[in-house]
Amino acid sequence: MISAFIADVAYYLPSGSVTNDDLSRAFPEWSVDKISAKTGIEVRHIAGPDEFTSDLATGAARALASAGRVDLNEVDYLIVCTQSPDYFLPTTACMVHENLGLRSDAGAIDINLGCSGYVYGMGLAKGLIESGQVRNVLLITADTYSKFLNPEDKSVRTIFGDAASATFVSSRESSGADISALVYGSDGSGAKHLMVPRGGLRPGADLTHDAEPEARGLQPSSYDLYMNGPEIFNFTLRVVPETFAAVLAKAEISEDEVDLVVVHQANAFMLEHLRKKLAVPTEKFFVHIANCGNTVSSTIPIALAEAAESGVLRRGMNVLVMGFGVGLSWGGFMLRW
Ligand SMILES: CC(C)(COP(=O)(O)OP(=O)(O)OC[C@H]1O[C@@H](n2cnc3c(N)ncnc32)[C@H](O)[C@@H]1OP(=O)(O)O)[C@@H](O)C(=O)NCCC(=O)NCCS
Repeated sequence: MISAFIADVAYYLPSGSVTNDDLSRAFPEWSVDKISAKTGIEVRHIAGPDEFTSDLATGAARALASAGRVDLNEVDYLIVCTQSPDYFLPTTACMVHENLGLRSDAGAIDINLGCSGYVYGMGLAKGLIESGQVRNVLLITADTYSKFLNPEDKSVRTIFGDAASATFVSSRESSGADISALVYGSDGSGAKHLMVPRGGLRPGADLTHDAEPEARGLQPSSYDLYMNGPEIFNFTLRVVPETFAAVLAKAEISEDEVDLVVVHQANAFMLEHLRKKLAVPTEKFFVHIANCGNTVSSTIPIALAEAAESGVLRRGMNVLVMGFGVGLSWGGFMLRW
C-alpha cells in the first residue's frame, strides 16, 4: 500500500506591499486601527505590474528547492491551483514547468479553485500517488487577486494579498506529514457572492445587481472582484463546523486528539468567530495573517510553513486543516505531522 506524505512546504511573497496606512490614506473613513482590528492584517504583498501568477509560482518552487530537502528533478507531476492564470490558455502549470526545468516526462495541469484549493489539490496529489501513477507531486498554489481588485473597493482591498506556495507531496516513506480523512463540499448556488464578473466569456447577464461596480458607487475598473462579506461569513459559519465534524469522523479521532487546527486565513474577524463556534482553544488555533493577508489558496500552506518554522507545529502532531470560500467550495483533511 503506497502512502502519500507532505515532504516539505515553502512559499513566496512578492515584494510590493499595501499597508493599513496606505489604505487609511485612501479611505479616511477607516482608520489604521479599525482595519487592523477588523481584519487582523497589517500588510498585504502585491505583485508588481509585470509580475504574474507563473512568476509567483516559480518563486515558491525555487524557495522550496533552495531549502534543500527535496529535489525538483524528482517531480513527476505539477499541479498549479490558481484563479488568476497568466492567460486563458495555455495553462500556467506548463509555463511553470518550463521555468523550473522540470523533466519533460512530468505532467503539468492547472486547477481552478480559491480558498479551498489547497485541500482539493492535496486530494488530487494523494490520489495520483496512491493510485501508483506517480511518486512525487509538486502542488503549487498561486494567485494575484490584487489585479482583480477595484482600487476604490475598500471591502476587498483590506483583505486580499498575493502569494504562492509550493508543497512537495511524495510517496517516499521517509519523514513527512501523513495526509488522511479528506472531505469535500460545493454549493454553486452561492457562486454570485464572491466572483470576478468580467474577464471570462460569459457576458454576465445573470449577475446580481450588487456585483456591478456602479451599483456599489464604484467607477468600473478592470475585473472588479465582488464579495458579499456577510453572505460569505454566514456560509462559513454553517459549513466549517460540519466539515470539522466530518474530518474527525472520517479520521476516527476525537476533538481532544487534535493538536492544531489550521483553517483558511480569511480575516481575523471571521477566524475568531469560527474558533469560538468550533470551541477550539486559542493555543490550538493557528493564525498567521498579519503580514500577508488573505492569499486565497495559499493561506493554509503558508500557515503550515510558518507553524513548522516557529516550532508551534511539531513532529507527531495531529493537524486538522480546512479551506472554504469562493465557489462556494469547502473541504478538509487531517495531517499527522
Ligand atoms: C468582511 C467582513 C469582515 C465584514 O464584517 P461585518 O461585520 O459583516 O461588516 P459590516 O459591513 O456589518 O460592518 C461592521 C463594521 O465593521 C467595519 N468594517 C467592515 N469591514 C471592514 C474592514 N475590512 N476594515 C475595517 N472595518 C471594516 C464597517 O465599516 C462597520 O463599521 P461601523 O460599525 O463603525 O459602521 C465580514 O463580513 C467577513 O468576515 N466576511 C467574510 C469575507 C471573507 O473573509 N472573504 C474571504 C474569502 S473566504
